[in-house]
Amino acid sequence: MAISLTGSGVADELFGQLDRATEGLQPPFAAVELGAFDTNASILRREALGKPIRLASKSVRCRALMRRVLGQPGFEGVLAFTLPEALWLAEEFDDVVVAYPTADTDALRRLAEDDRAAQRVTIMVDSVEHLEFLQRHVEPSVSRPLRLCLEIDMSLELLGGRVHIGARRSPVHTPEQALDMAHEIEKRPGVRLVGLMGYEGQIAGVQDAFSAAALQYPLVRLMQRISKAELAARRAEAVAAVRAAADIEFVNGGGTGSIGFTASDPSVTEIAAGSGLYSPGLFDGYRSIRPLPSAFFALPVVRRPGKGVVTALGGGWVASGAPGRDRLPRPAHPKGLSYTKTEGAGEVQTPLRGRAARDLEIGSRVWMRHAKAGELCERVNTLHLVADGRKVDEVLTYRGEGFAFA
Ligand SMILES: Cc1ncc(COP(=O)(O)O)c(C=O)c1O
Repeated sequence: MAISLTGSGVADELFGQLDRATEGLQPPFAAVELGAFDTNASILRREALGKPIRLASKSVRCRALMRRVLGQPGFEGVLAFTLPEALWLAEEFDDVVVAYPTADTDALRRLAEDDRAAQRVTIMVDSVEHLEFLQRHVEPSVSRPLRLCLEIDMSLELLGGRVHIGARRSPVHTPEQALDMAHEIEKRPGVRLVGLMGYEGQIAGVQDAFSAAALQYPLVRLMQRISKAELAARRAEAVAAVRAAADIEFVNGGGTGSIGFTASDPSVTEIAAGSGLYSPGLFDGYRSIRPLPSAFFALPVVRRPGKGVVTALGGGWVASGAPGRDRLPRPAHPKGLSYTKTEGAGEVQTPLRGRAARDLEIGSRVWMRHAKAGELCERVNTLHLVADGRKVDEVLTYRGEGFAFA
């Protein structure tokens, strides 16, 4: 039986252009179509209702493309995913918030000892344990305090906390807990509370579009309606409580999948987003925003094991998260190809079947879309940039620059 993941809605024309632009290249390789990429930046900007967008680096993982976006109006600052990454990015970008707490004591010491990094990088905390960890490993400096952002949990808790819907992130859930943490930070030397972050992953990161394969989506939407009402009130209260205790610079919220909703929350001053720039496969399942697919990878056909089946070289490219079919790359072109149930997106070879397989020969290309955004860049050293049907550049990914941060 075949697993069908097609239906991305990407025009055949675009693949014709990508084919022409990358004609001399040997697959596997990855390409980004800059027209779609830039359009997506505009879509995100429009959805953000005038609030600045902090670029989620994990969803881009390519400094050249990060530069391209951060050079446009509406995008300010980076939301990084590890402290070593943030220290590296801070050599170039002047405002980097690390979205996840760190236990990397070497990187913390580097941060604390470097004036410029200490001014440019903000690290995440959500507990007294984090503050004590920092105190144990970093000599507090009053003249060069560590910039801290407090993460507030934006997940939905029902039945007195027995049902938890959302990411397992911060233990700080109530405005009172947020205020207590603000006081804890304020009373310690060598640290300064500069921001709040509340990421509503159950809204920003969950597919909710109707699909025959996913009958649970009406339930997802109901959950999201309840959650939006609950979290908007709670986030506003937490922000007001913390603002009374500390002079914070920013309140960050959201992701591509919630950008309009998050931007309309008056307590939020900036939105985090990144995935929408590439618009990977999972975003086909989002109702709130429809960016254009801009990132692709090409695999070569190397075998024809039987009628209606071709085998492409390469495989895997499977996305992170709860395991499921939606984590597999989408065979995007030619249309109508699907995986075999026994091999799926294989390890080093990927059989693909369907009507389109009949017209493929040894040496033909199959264009695929990764299910998630930045993870594509962990598989390739470079991205080939295509504009107006021509290859205009080849840029290094994080991996190509020699970095694998997580
Ligand atoms: C804190 C935070 N903000 C925002 C995002 C979402 O960004 P994106 O636009 O890539 O979905 C993430 C992704 O996991 C995140 O962890």
